[in-house]
Amino acid sequence: MATATRALFMLFGATGDLAKRKLYPSIFNLYKKGYIDNKHFALIGTGRREWSNDKFHDVVFESVKDNAESEDQAKDFASHFYYMSHDVTNPEHYDALSEYANKLDAEYDAQGNRIFYISMAPNFFGTVAKNLKAHNCLSNNGGFNRLIIEKPFGRDYESAEELNNALGKSFNENQVYRIDHYLGKEMVQNIIALRFGNPLIEGMWNNKYIKNVQVTLSEKLGVEERAGYYDGAGALRDMTQNHTMQMLSILTMEEPVSFKDIDVRSEKIRALRSMRIYTPDEARENFVRGQYGKNGDQADYRHEDNVPEDSNTETYVAGKVMFDNQRWANVPFYVRTGKMLADKFTRIDIVFKKPIIDIFAAAGKQSGDLQNNVLTLFVDPVNKVILHLNGKKAGQGMEMQPLDLTHTQSDEEKAATPEPYERLIHDAILGDATNFASWDEVSRAWKFADVIRNVWDTDKPDFPNYTPGSMGPKAADDLLARDGNEWIKK
Ligand SMILES: NC(=O)c1ccc[n+]([C@@H]2O[C@H](COP(=O)([O-])OP(=O)(O)OC[C@H]3O[C@@H](n4cnc5c(N)ncnc54)[C@H](OP(=O)(O)O)[C@@H]3O)[C@@H](O)[C@H]2O)c1
Repeated sequence: MATATRALFMLFGATGDLAKRKLYPSIFNLYKKGYIDNKHFALIGTGRREWSNDKFHDVVFESVKDNAESEDQAKDFASHFYYMSHDVTNPEHYDALSEYANKLDAEYDAQGNRIFYISMAPNFFGTVAKNLKAHNCLSNNGGFNRLIIEKPFGRDYESAEELNNALGKSFNENQVYRIDHYLGKEMVQNIIALRFGNPLIEGMWNNKYIKNVQVTLSEKLGVEERAGYYDGAGALRDMTQNHTMQMLSILTMEEPVSFKDIDVRSEKIRALRSMRIYTPDEARENFVRGQYGKNGDQADYRHEDNVPEDSNTETYVAGKVMFDNQRWANVPFYVRTGKMLADKFTRIDIVFKKPIIDIFAAAGKQSGDLQNNVLTLFVDPVNKVILHLNGKKAGQGMEMQPLDLTHTQSDEEKAATPEPYERLIHDAILGDATNFASWDEVSRAWKFADVIRNVWDTDKPDFPNYTPGSMGPKAADDLLARDGNEWIKK
């Protein structure tokens, strides 16, 4: 049995969608697995709605019951939840909250360990953090105080910095856990294992052997019910600035001194510091945006519900990112993400260089070119690794053919794989910040994205420019073709 941690949670946004769909089921799994001490755990949920404790228990019960071993187990879990109607903008409410927290802390003997989770729109993050400190909601008896916050962390560097300064008045950087749920994905965590656990791979993880790297986050759906938020954000802010940048930092970082969060983070930051921040002209040259058009019954983006008819918001981004350091000089990292694409998947393709001299071709021993070796890491929806090699075709002679080595996660491994939120909440309980985005990482990513955003806000786009069901605009293929490269096909 795992070592269980005692803690009092305070959840802001307890009546919201994320809480019901992700947070309660994740905390429940930790509870079931014994990672949370069930005698010493309570959660105060807040929202403006006038819910009773009973109503709150019903909501929590409903969201976990399908995953419970028995109804009693789900009910027992829900009984640790307490509701307070609370308007986060009203300072007086925090006094009642502080009192309630102290009462429950004593009742459950949580020893002053507090986890504050803000699952609300980002404009409330600063207000909540400020009032928590001002009204003594943080414990001061030697227990821990940790703050978990949802994305998005700002909408550009300036707003992110303002938000960070606001949080900084109440919490130190090492108490802030910024969620990027991609960092909780099994295959994203596996990048570090595959790289630093295998000299075979790490030895070739540089510009001597790697031709280019491709990171694709492809979505099949459109904006659905998120149109209101999405139209004000766009794909660059919604996906590239955060998830893509986080994956790039793990792909490009040097080996950390240890696997401790402080060491991993400092290497990620170092890698991001060498990421080339483009000039506006370079941004125009190296980044492509798209917006989907109409296809049969599928409306074009501008005719989706809650999207203005003159919207210039991009639903697609592709770009080339360069890292100016010894390891990665001259290796393009191509990234792309978009909505309404051919399929839903996230994958990373590491494309290796071909042998300088192809002795098989010279001897007429193969019909086409040797293929580039490609290491493909499938992040979603399956966890799979494929190494594309060249090998000998069975039979007489020495004809070459592609040879794939594949590892697919087994059903057993799949069952043992926690959901990203479960894993990340557990990490926060343990005080392990490895898989959370630090301010230095977030700020560097905004500085990179802001140049592109500013250019796009100035230049008028030629939208729509891609068909739903395709893999994006032609300009995204041209971007690679200019370098003599192409997107790796599925
Ligand atoms: N939903 C997702 O899948 C998802 C995914 C990734 C990130 N996120 C992020 O997670 C956060 C929460 O998202 P969500 O989808 O759960 O939003 P939501 O369903 O709109 O919930 C918002 C929550 O905030 C509370 N709230 C709003 N104003 C308040 C106030 N003045 N005082 C107290 N409580 C207030 C609401 O409670 P009352 O209405 O009862 O006041 C509700 O519980 C956002 O930052 C979002 O970007 C969500």
